[in-house]
Amino acid sequence: SQAEIGLIGLGVMGSNLALNIAEKGNKIAVFNRTVDATRRFYAEAGALKDQIVPCETIEEFVAAIRPPRPIIIMIKAGDPVDQQMEALESHLAKGDIMIDAGNANFRDTMRRFDALKDSGLTFIGMGVSGGEEGARHGPSIMVGGTEESYRRVEKVLTSIAAKYDGVPCVAWLGENGAGHFVKTIHNGIEYADMQMIAEIYGILRDGLKMSAGEIGEVFGAWNKGRLNSYLIEITEKVLKAADPLTANPIVDMILDKAGQKGTGKWSVIEAQNLGIPATGIEAAVAARSISSMKEEREAAEKILGLPSMGEFKVADKAAFIKDLENALLAAKIGAYAQGFAVMAAASKEFNWNLPMPTIAKIWRAGCIIRSQFLDEITTAFAKAPDVANLIVTPAFATMVKETDGALRRVVSAAVLGGLPVPALASALGYFDSYRRGRGTANIIQAQRDFFGAHGFDRIDGADSHHGPWGSGLGA
Ligand code: 6PG
Repeated sequence: SQAEIGLIGLGVMGSNLALNIAEKGNKIAVFNRTVDATRRFYAEAGALKDQIVPCETIEEFVAAIRPPRPIIIMIKAGDPVDQQMEALESHLAKGDIMIDAGNANFRDTMRRFDALKDSGLTFIGMGVSGGEEGARHGPSIMVGGTEESYRRVEKVLTSIAAKYDGVPCVAWLGENGAGHFVKTIHNGIEYADMQMIAEIYGILRDGLKMSAGEIGEVFGAWNKGRLNSYLIEITEKVLKAADPLTANPIVDMILDKAGQKGTGKWSVIEAQNLGIPATGIEAAVAARSISSMKEEREAAEKILGLPSMGEFKVADKAAFIKDLENALLAAKIGAYAQGFAVMAAASKEFNWNLPMPTIAKIWRAGCIIRSQFLDEITTAFAKAPDVANLIVTPAFATMVKETDGALRRVVSAAVLGGLPVPALASALGYFDSYRRGRGTANIIQAQRDFFGAHGFDRIDGADSHHGPWGSGLGA
Protein backbone atom coordinates (compact mmCIF):
# COMPACT_ATOMS: atom_id res chain seq x y z
CA SER A 1 0.00 0.00 0.00
CA GLN A 2 1.06 3.60 -0.50
CA ALA A 3 2.36 5.84 2.26
CA GLU A 4 -0.18 8.03 4.03
CA ILE A 5 2.24 10.94 4.21
CA GLY A 6 5.76 11.98 3.16
CA LEU A 7 8.54 13.81 5.00
CA ILE A 8 11.55 15.65 3.64
CA GLY A 9 14.49 16.48 5.90
CA LEU A 10 15.91 13.83 8.19
CA GLY A 11 17.65 16.06 10.71
CA VAL A 12 16.92 15.37 14.38
CA MET A 13 13.46 16.97 14.35
CA GLY A 14 12.48 15.42 11.00
CA SER A 15 13.74 11.96 11.95
CA ASN A 16 11.94 12.04 15.26
CA LEU A 17 8.71 13.23 13.69
CA ALA A 18 8.96 10.49 11.05
CA LEU A 19 9.54 7.80 13.70
CA ASN A 20 6.60 9.12 15.71
CA ILE A 21 4.37 8.99 12.61
CA ALA A 22 5.52 5.43 11.80
CA GLU A 23 5.13 4.26 15.38
CA LYS A 24 1.51 5.40 15.47
CA GLY A 25 0.74 3.04 12.58
CA ASN A 26 0.95 5.47 9.67
CA LYS A 27 3.02 4.46 6.66
CA ILE A 28 5.47 7.22 5.79
CA ALA A 29 7.78 7.92 2.84
CA VAL A 30 10.98 9.77 3.71
CA PHE A 31 13.50 11.69 1.63
CA ASN A 32 16.65 13.62 2.43
CA ARG A 33 18.85 15.77 0.20
CA THR A 34 21.83 13.58 1.05
CA VAL A 35 21.13 9.90 0.50
CA ASP A 36 23.42 8.83 3.35
CA ALA A 37 21.09 10.34 5.95
CA THR A 38 18.13 8.45 4.48
CA ARG A 39 20.03 5.15 4.54
CA ARG A 40 21.23 5.71 8.08
CA PHE A 41 17.75 6.68 9.26
CA TYR A 42 16.24 3.55 7.73
CA ALA A 43 18.99 1.28 9.04
CA GLU A 44 18.33 2.53 12.57
CA ALA A 45 14.52 2.38 12.35
CA GLY A 46 14.38 -1.12 13.87
CA ALA A 47 10.88 -2.47 14.24
CA LEU A 48 9.40 0.61 12.55
CA LYS A 49 10.97 -0.28 9.18
CA ASP A 50 7.72 -1.84 7.97
CA GLN A 51 6.01 1.53 8.16
CA ILE A 52 8.81 3.46 6.45
CA VAL A 53 9.51 3.84 2.73
CA PRO A 54 13.04 5.25 2.35
CA CYS A 55 13.37 7.08 -0.98
CA GLU A 56 16.53 8.13 -2.75
CA THR A 57 15.00 10.23 -5.52
CA ILE A 58 12.21 12.79 -5.48
CA GLU A 59 10.36 10.83 -8.18
CA GLU A 60 10.41 7.66 -6.11
CA PHE A 61 9.36 9.64 -3.04
CA VAL A 62 6.37 11.33 -4.67
CA ALA A 63 5.20 8.07 -6.26
CA ALA A 64 5.26 6.37 -2.86
CA ILE A 65 2.61 8.66 -1.33
CA ARG A 66 -1.17 8.30 -1.65
CA PRO A 67 -2.70 11.33 -3.43
CA PRO A 68 -3.58 13.98 -2.58
CA ARG A 69 -0.08 13.85 -1.12
CA PRO A 70 0.71 15.57 2.16
CA ILE A 71 4.45 16.25 2.34
CA ILE A 72 6.04 17.56 5.51
CA ILE A 73 9.11 19.71 4.96
CA MET A 74 11.24 19.80 8.09
CA ILE A 75 14.37 21.73 7.20
CA LYS A 76 16.12 24.94 8.27
CA ALA A 77 13.68 27.87 8.15
CA GLY A 78 14.17 30.57 5.51
CA ASP A 79 15.54 30.24 1.97
CA PRO A 80 16.09 26.46 2.12
CA VAL A 81 12.30 26.05 2.41
CA ASP A 82 11.69 28.09 -0.76
CA GLN A 83 14.36 26.10 -2.59
CA GLN A 84 12.90 22.79 -1.45
CA MET A 85 9.39 23.85 -2.44
CA GLU A 86 10.58 24.87 -5.87
CA ALA A 87 12.40 21.56 -6.38
CA LEU A 88 9.29 19.67 -5.33
CA GLU A 89 6.62 21.62 -7.16
CA SER A 90 7.04 20.19 -10.66
CA HIS A 91 6.73 16.65 -9.31
CA LEU A 92 3.41 17.20 -7.58
CA ALA A 93 -0.17 17.05 -8.80
CA LYS A 94 -3.33 19.06 -8.12
CA GLY A 95 -4.47 18.82 -4.51
CA ASP A 96 -1.07 17.84 -3.11
CA ILE A 97 -0.14 19.60 0.10
CA MET A 98 3.26 20.97 1.06
CA ILE A 99 3.57 21.30 4.83
CA ASP A 100 6.26 23.50 6.32
CA ALA A 101 6.80 22.23 9.86
CA GLY A 102 9.76 24.46 10.73
CA ASN A 103 9.80 27.65 12.77
CA ALA A 104 8.87 29.86 9.82
CA ASN A 105 8.07 33.52 9.99
CA PHE A 106 4.30 33.58 9.38
CA ARG A 107 4.81 36.33 6.77
CA ASP A 108 6.86 33.86 4.71
CA THR A 109 4.10 31.30 5.23
CA MET A 110 1.47 33.75 3.92
CA ARG A 111 3.66 34.48 0.89
CA ARG A 112 4.19 30.76 0.17
CA PHE A 113 0.51 30.02 0.63
CA ASP A 114 -0.43 32.74 -1.88
CA ALA A 115 2.29 31.73 -4.32
CA LEU A 116 0.87 28.22 -4.61
CA LYS A 117 -2.75 29.35 -4.96
CA ASP A 118 -2.93 29.19 -8.76
CA SER A 119 -0.88 26.00 -9.05
CA GLY A 120 -3.60 23.75 -7.67
CA LEU A 121 -1.23 22.78 -4.86
CA THR A 122 -1.90 23.83 -1.29
CA PHE A 123 0.30 24.84 1.56
CA ILE A 124 0.12 24.27 5.30
CA GLY A 125 2.23 26.22 7.77
CA MET A 126 2.48 24.00 10.81
CA GLY A 127 3.96 25.03 14.14
CA VAL A 128 5.44 22.08 16.02
CA SER A 129 6.52 22.50 19.61
CA GLY A 130 8.12 20.20 22.10
CA GLY A 131 11.72 19.99 21.03
CA GLU A 132 13.31 16.69 20.02
CA GLU A 133 11.46 14.62 22.63
CA GLY A 134 8.15 16.15 21.67
CA ALA A 135 8.68 15.41 17.99
CA ARG A 136 9.47 11.78 18.82
CA HIS A 137 6.75 11.07 21.39
CA GLY A 138 4.09 13.76 21.12
CA PRO A 139 4.39 17.42 20.15
CA SER A 140 1.82 20.19 20.25
CA ILE A 141 0.82 20.99 16.67
CA MET A 142 -0.56 24.32 15.44
CA VAL A 143 -1.93 24.13 11.91
CA GLY A 144 -2.60 26.95 9.44
CA GLY A 145 -3.90 26.48 5.90
CA THR A 146 -7.19 25.59 4.25
CA GLU A 147 -9.53 23.57 6.41
CA GLU A 148 -9.86 21.04 3.58
CA SER A 149 -6.11 20.42 3.48
CA TYR A 150 -6.12 19.99 7.26
CA ARG A 151 -8.79 17.28 7.00
CA ARG A 152 -6.43 15.27 4.77
CA VAL A 153 -3.76 15.17 7.50
CA GLU A 154 -5.93 15.34 10.61
CA LYS A 155 -5.84 11.62 11.30
CA VAL A 156 -2.05 11.33 11.14
CA LEU A 157 -1.48 14.51 13.17
CA THR A 158 -4.00 13.47 15.80
CA SER A 159 -2.25 10.13 16.17
CA ILE A 160 1.16 11.70 16.78
CA ALA A 161 0.18 14.71 18.92
CA ALA A 162 0.65 14.85 22.68
CA LYS A 163 -2.47 14.09 24.71
CA TYR A 164 -3.75 16.02 27.73
CA ASP A 165 -6.28 13.91 29.62
CA GLY A 166 -6.66 11.98 26.36
CA VAL A 167 -7.35 15.14 24.30
CA PRO A 168 -4.92 15.49 21.37
CA CYS A 169 -2.86 18.69 21.27
CA VAL A 170 -3.42 19.52 17.62
CA ALA A 171 -5.87 21.84 15.91
CA TRP A 172 -6.58 23.70 12.72
CA LEU A 173 -6.32 27.33 13.79
CA GLY A 174 -7.12 29.22 10.58
CA GLU A 175 -6.05 30.04 7.04
CA ASN A 176 -2.56 30.64 5.67
CA GLY A 177 -0.18 31.95 8.38
CA ALA A 178 -2.37 31.24 11.43
CA GLY A 179 -0.45 28.18 12.62
CA HIS A 180 2.99 29.73 12.33
CA PHE A 181 1.78 32.95 13.92
CA VAL A 182 0.46 31.07 16.93
CA LYS A 183 3.73 29.12 17.13
CA THR A 184 5.64 32.40 17.07
CA ILE A 185 3.61 33.76 19.98
CA HIS A 186 4.07 30.43 21.77
CA ASN A 187 7.80 31.00 21.48
CA GLY A 188 7.49 34.62 22.60
CA ILE A 189 5.70 33.42 25.72
CA GLU A 190 8.36 30.73 26.09
CA TYR A 191 11.01 33.47 26.09
CA ALA A 192 9.09 35.41 28.77
CA ASP A 193 8.57 32.32 30.93
CA MET A 194 12.26 31.46 30.71
CA GLN A 195 13.43 35.00 31.44
CA MET A 196 11.15 35.33 34.47
CA ILE A 197 12.47 32.04 35.81
CA ALA A 198 16.01 33.33 35.23
CA GLU A 199 15.27 36.54 37.15
CA ILE A 200 13.84 34.62 40.10
CA TYR A 201 16.91 32.36 39.97
CA GLY A 202 19.06 35.50 40.06
CA ILE A 203 17.34 36.74 43.22
CA LEU A 204 17.85 33.36 44.90
CA ARG A 205 21.49 33.14 43.76
CA ASP A 206 22.70 36.72 44.12
CA GLY A 207 20.22 38.05 46.69
CA LEU A 208 19.72 35.11 49.04
CA LYS A 209 23.14 33.63 48.16
CA MET A 210 21.74 30.14 47.71
CA SER A 211 23.61 27.36 45.92
CA ALA A 212 22.40 25.82 42.68
CA GLY A 213 21.34 22.68 44.50
CA GLU A 214 19.34 24.67 47.08
CA ILE A 215 17.65 26.67 44.35
CA GLY A 216 16.85 23.39 42.60
CA GLU A 217 15.01 22.29 45.73
CA VAL A 218 12.93 25.48 45.65
CA PHE A 219 11.93 24.94 42.01
CA GLY A 220 11.20 21.30 42.78
CA ALA A 221 8.78 22.34 45.52
CA TRP A 222 7.15 24.93 43.26
CA ASN A 223 6.61 22.32 40.59
CA LYS A 224 4.20 20.60 42.96
CA GLY A 225 2.13 23.77 43.30
CA ARG A 226 0.43 26.29 41.05
CA LEU A 227 3.58 26.82 38.95
CA ASN A 228 3.59 23.17 37.91
CA SER A 229 4.97 23.14 34.37
CA TYR A 230 7.59 21.64 32.10
CA LEU A 231 9.89 24.67 32.33
CA ILE A 232 9.85 24.67 36.16
CA GLU A 233 10.42 20.91 36.12
CA ILE A 234 13.48 21.13 33.87
CA THR A 235 14.79 24.11 35.84
CA GLU A 236 14.95 21.91 38.93
CA LYS A 237 16.73 19.19 36.95
CA VAL A 238 19.15 21.66 35.41
CA LEU A 239 20.01 23.19 38.79
CA LYS A 240 20.67 19.79 40.34
CA ALA A 241 22.88 18.45 37.56
CA ALA A 242 26.64 18.16 38.09
CA ASP A 243 29.30 19.02 35.55
CA PRO A 244 31.11 15.81 34.52
CA LEU A 245 34.38 17.76 34.09
CA THR A 246 34.57 19.62 37.41
CA ALA A 247 31.78 18.10 39.54
CA ASN A 248 30.49 21.65 40.13
CA PRO A 249 26.82 22.32 39.44
CA ILE A 250 26.68 22.47 35.64
CA VAL A 251 24.76 25.79 35.66
CA ASP A 252 27.67 27.43 37.45
CA MET A 253 29.94 26.40 34.58
CA ILE A 254 27.72 27.64 31.73
CA LEU A 255 28.51 30.98 30.12
CA ASP A 256 25.71 33.52 30.69
CA LYS A 257 25.19 34.35 27.00
CA ALA A 258 21.84 33.25 25.56
CA GLY A 259 21.21 32.53 21.90
CA GLN A 260 18.06 33.28 19.96
CA LYS A 261 16.88 32.26 16.53
CA GLY A 262 14.23 34.91 15.88
CA THR A 263 10.78 33.80 16.99
CA GLY A 264 10.89 35.92 20.17
CA LYS A 265 11.92 38.96 18.17
CA TRP A 266 9.16 38.34 15.60
CA SER A 267 6.59 38.21 18.42
CA VAL A 268 7.71 41.63 19.61
CA ILE A 269 7.77 43.10 16.10
CA GLU A 270 4.27 41.84 15.34
CA ALA A 271 2.97 43.01 18.71
CA GLN A 272 4.32 46.47 17.94
CA ASN A 273 2.85 46.36 14.42
CA LEU A 274 -0.53 45.59 15.94
CA GLY A 275 -0.20 48.20 18.69
CA ILE A 276 -0.53 45.65 21.46
CA PRO A 277 1.78 45.85 24.48
CA ALA A 278 3.78 42.65 24.95
CA THR A 279 6.21 44.03 27.48
CA GLY A 280 7.05 40.68 29.07
CA ILE A 281 8.16 39.24 25.74
CA GLU A 282 9.98 42.49 24.87
CA ALA A 283 11.85 42.39 28.16
CA ALA A 284 12.78 38.77 27.59
CA VAL A 285 14.10 39.35 24.08
CA ALA A 286 16.05 42.41 25.23
CA ALA A 287 17.46 40.43 28.15
CA ARG A 288 18.80 37.79 25.75
CA SER A 289 20.38 40.53 23.67
CA ILE A 290 22.02 42.11 26.72
CA SER A 291 23.16 38.66 27.84
CA SER A 292 25.03 38.26 24.58
CA MET A 293 27.07 41.43 25.29
CA LYS A 294 29.23 39.60 27.78
CA GLU A 295 32.45 41.53 27.18
CA GLU A 296 30.67 44.88 27.25
CA ARG A 297 28.94 43.98 30.52
CA GLU A 298 32.20 42.94 32.13
CA ALA A 299 33.82 46.18 31.05
CA ALA A 300 30.85 48.21 32.35
CA GLU A 301 30.98 46.44 35.71
CA LYS A 302 34.59 47.58 36.05
CA ILE A 303 33.61 51.20 35.32
CA LEU A 304 30.24 51.49 37.07
CA GLY A 305 30.47 48.75 39.66
CA LEU A 306 27.43 46.86 40.88
CA PRO A 307 24.69 48.98 42.53
CA SER A 308 25.87 49.50 46.10
CA MET A 309 22.78 49.31 48.23
CA GLY A 310 24.51 47.05 50.71
CA GLU A 311 23.36 43.57 51.61
CA PHE A 312 20.21 42.17 50.07
CA LYS A 313 18.01 42.01 53.16
CA VAL A 314 14.86 40.01 53.73
CA ALA A 315 13.27 39.72 57.15
CA ASP A 316 11.80 36.26 56.74
CA LYS A 317 13.46 34.01 54.17
CA ALA A 318 10.67 31.42 53.99
CA ALA A 319 8.02 34.11 53.54
CA PHE A 320 10.15 35.77 50.87
CA ILE A 321 10.52 32.49 48.97
CA LYS A 322 6.73 32.13 49.08
CA ASP A 323 6.57 35.67 47.66
CA LEU A 324 8.93 34.65 44.87
CA GLU A 325 6.61 31.80 43.93
CA ASN A 326 3.58 34.08 43.82
CA ALA A 327 5.52 36.81 42.04
CA LEU A 328 6.49 34.35 39.31
CA LEU A 329 2.87 33.30 38.94
CA ALA A 330 1.68 36.91 38.74
CA ALA A 331 4.32 37.83 36.16
CA LYS A 332 3.48 34.74 34.15
CA ILE A 333 -0.17 35.78 34.06
CA GLY A 334 0.91 39.14 32.65
CA ALA A 335 3.03 37.60 29.90
CA TYR A 336 0.34 35.12 28.84
CA ALA A 337 -2.35 37.81 28.91
CA GLN A 338 -0.18 39.87 26.58
CA GLY A 339 0.55 36.95 24.25
CA PHE A 340 -3.14 36.12 23.94
CA ALA A 341 -3.99 39.80 23.39
CA VAL A 342 -1.49 39.90 20.51
CA MET A 343 -3.12 36.83 18.98
CA ALA A 344 -6.60 38.35 19.35
CA ALA A 345 -5.47 41.49 17.51
CA ALA A 346 -3.69 39.49 14.81
CA SER A 347 -6.77 37.35 14.36
CA LYS A 348 -8.76 40.47 13.42
CA GLU A 349 -5.99 41.96 11.32
CA PHE A 350 -5.44 38.82 9.24
CA ASN A 351 -9.05 37.49 9.32
CA TRP A 352 -8.07 34.23 10.97
CA ASN A 353 -10.77 33.86 13.58
CA LEU A 354 -8.23 32.29 15.96
CA PRO A 355 -9.96 30.12 18.56
CA MET A 356 -8.45 31.25 21.90
CA PRO A 357 -9.76 28.37 24.06
CA THR A 358 -8.46 25.86 21.49
CA ILE A 359 -5.02 27.46 21.42
CA ALA A 360 -4.76 27.26 25.21
CA LYS A 361 -6.08 23.70 25.03
CA ILE A 362 -3.46 22.43 22.58
CA TRP A 363 -0.68 24.06 24.62
CA ARG A 364 -1.56 22.06 27.75
CA ALA A 365 0.70 19.18 26.72
CA GLY A 366 3.52 18.49 24.28
CA CYS A 367 4.89 22.01 23.90
CA ILE A 368 7.66 23.76 25.81
CA ILE A 369 5.27 26.01 27.77
CA ARG A 370 2.97 23.13 28.72
CA SER A 371 1.49 23.46 32.19
CA GLN A 372 -1.45 23.10 34.48
CA PHE A 373 -1.77 26.89 34.19
CA LEU A 374 -2.78 26.50 30.53
CA ASP A 375 -5.66 24.32 31.58
CA GLU A 376 -6.87 27.22 33.72
CA ILE A 377 -6.49 29.55 30.73
CA THR A 378 -8.46 27.08 28.60
CA THR A 379 -11.32 27.16 31.08
CA ALA A 380 -11.25 30.96 31.37
CA PHE A 381 -11.38 31.47 27.58
CA ALA A 382 -13.99 28.76 27.13
CA LYS A 383 -16.26 30.78 29.43
CA ALA A 384 -15.38 34.11 27.78
CA PRO A 385 -13.79 33.56 24.34
CA ASP A 386 -14.07 37.24 23.36
CA VAL A 387 -12.89 38.81 26.60
CA ALA A 388 -10.63 41.85 26.06
CA ASN A 389 -7.86 40.51 28.26
CA LEU A 390 -7.21 37.33 30.22
CA ILE A 391 -6.60 39.29 33.43
CA VAL A 392 -10.18 40.55 33.60
CA THR A 393 -11.72 37.08 33.46
CA PRO A 394 -13.07 36.22 36.92
CA ALA A 395 -10.57 33.42 37.61
CA PHE A 396 -7.52 35.40 36.54
CA ALA A 397 -8.65 38.66 38.14
CA THR A 398 -8.77 36.71 41.41
CA MET A 399 -5.32 35.25 40.78
CA VAL A 400 -3.85 38.68 39.99
CA LYS A 401 -5.33 40.11 43.18
CA GLU A 402 -3.91 37.21 45.18
CA THR A 403 -0.40 37.47 43.76
CA ASP A 404 0.39 41.01 42.67
CA GLY A 405 1.30 42.08 46.21
CA ALA A 406 4.04 39.45 46.20
CA LEU A 407 5.21 40.63 42.77
CA ARG A 408 5.36 44.19 44.12
CA ARG A 409 7.44 43.14 47.14
CA VAL A 410 9.79 41.02 45.05
CA VAL A 411 10.34 43.70 42.40
CA SER A 412 10.91 46.31 45.15
CA ALA A 413 13.45 44.12 46.93
CA ALA A 414 15.25 43.31 43.70
CA VAL A 415 15.35 46.93 42.58
CA LEU A 416 16.67 48.11 45.96
CA GLY A 417 19.20 45.28 45.95
CA GLY A 418 20.43 46.19 42.47
CA LEU A 419 19.31 42.92 40.88
CA PRO A 420 17.94 43.16 37.34
CA VAL A 421 14.33 42.04 36.99
CA PRO A 422 13.18 43.62 33.70
CA ALA A 423 10.56 41.00 32.86
CA LEU A 424 9.09 40.78 36.37
CA ALA A 425 8.97 44.57 36.56
CA SER A 426 7.35 44.75 33.14
CA ALA A 427 4.46 42.61 34.38
CA LEU A 428 3.95 44.84 37.38
CA GLY A 429 4.03 47.95 35.20
CA TYR A 430 1.54 46.32 32.86
CA PHE A 431 -0.93 45.48 35.64
CA ASP A 432 -0.60 48.89 37.21
CA SER A 433 -1.15 50.69 33.90
CA TYR A 434 -3.91 48.41 32.64
CA ARG A 435 -6.01 48.52 35.80
CA ARG A 436 -5.86 52.33 36.18
CA GLY A 437 -8.88 54.02 34.59
CA ARG A 438 -7.34 57.49 34.69
CA GLY A 439 -3.79 57.38 33.36
CA THR A 440 -1.29 60.12 32.57
CA ALA A 441 -1.49 60.36 28.78
CA ASN A 442 -3.45 63.61 29.20
CA ILE A 443 -0.07 65.28 29.64
CA ILE A 444 1.27 63.61 26.50
CA GLN A 445 -1.75 64.79 24.57
CA ALA A 446 -1.20 68.32 25.88
CA GLN A 447 2.47 68.21 24.84
CA ARG A 448 1.59 66.88 21.39
CA ASP A 449 -0.92 69.63 21.00
CA PHE A 450 1.52 72.25 22.30
CA PHE A 451 4.34 71.47 19.91
CA GLY A 452 2.40 70.09 16.98
CA ALA A 453 -1.24 71.21 17.27
CA HIS A 454 -2.23 67.53 17.20
CA GLY A 455 -5.41 68.19 19.16
CA PHE A 456 -6.98 66.25 22.03
CA ASP A 457 -10.32 64.97 23.24
CA ARG A 458 -11.72 66.37 26.49
CA ILE A 459 -13.10 64.44 29.42
CA ASP A 460 -16.30 66.50 29.31
CA GLY A 461 -16.79 65.88 25.59
CA ALA A 462 -16.86 69.64 24.87
CA ASP A 463 -16.06 70.61 21.32
CA SER A 464 -12.73 72.28 22.04
CA HIS A 465 -9.65 70.37 20.93
CA HIS A 466 -6.67 72.64 21.47
CA GLY A 467 -5.01 74.15 24.53
CA PRO A 468 -4.48 77.85 25.32
CA TRP A 469 -0.81 77.75 24.31
CA GLY A 470 -0.81 81.08 22.51
CA SER A 471 0.13 81.90 18.91
CA GLY A 472 -3.32 80.99 17.77
CA LEU A 473 -3.17 77.40 19.00
CA GLY A 474 -5.70 77.88 21.79
CA ALA A 475 -9.17 77.05 20.57
C1 6PG B 1 9.60 24.54 20.79
C2 6PG B 1 10.74 25.50 20.88
C3 6PG B 1 11.67 25.34 19.74
C4 6PG B 1 12.93 26.18 19.91
C5 6PG B 1 12.76 27.57 19.34
C6 6PG B 1 13.34 28.69 20.15
O1 6PG B 1 8.48 25.03 20.86
O2 6PG B 1 9.82 23.34 20.69
O3 6PG B 1 10.24 26.81 20.88
O4 6PG B 1 10.97 25.60 18.56
O5 6PG B 1 13.33 26.17 21.19
O6 6PG B 1 13.37 27.52 18.10
O7 6PG B 1 14.70 28.70 19.97
P1 6PG B 1 15.66 29.90 20.37
O8 6PG B 1 15.62 29.98 21.85
O9 6PG B 1 16.97 29.46 19.85
O10 6PG B 1 15.17 31.13 19.68
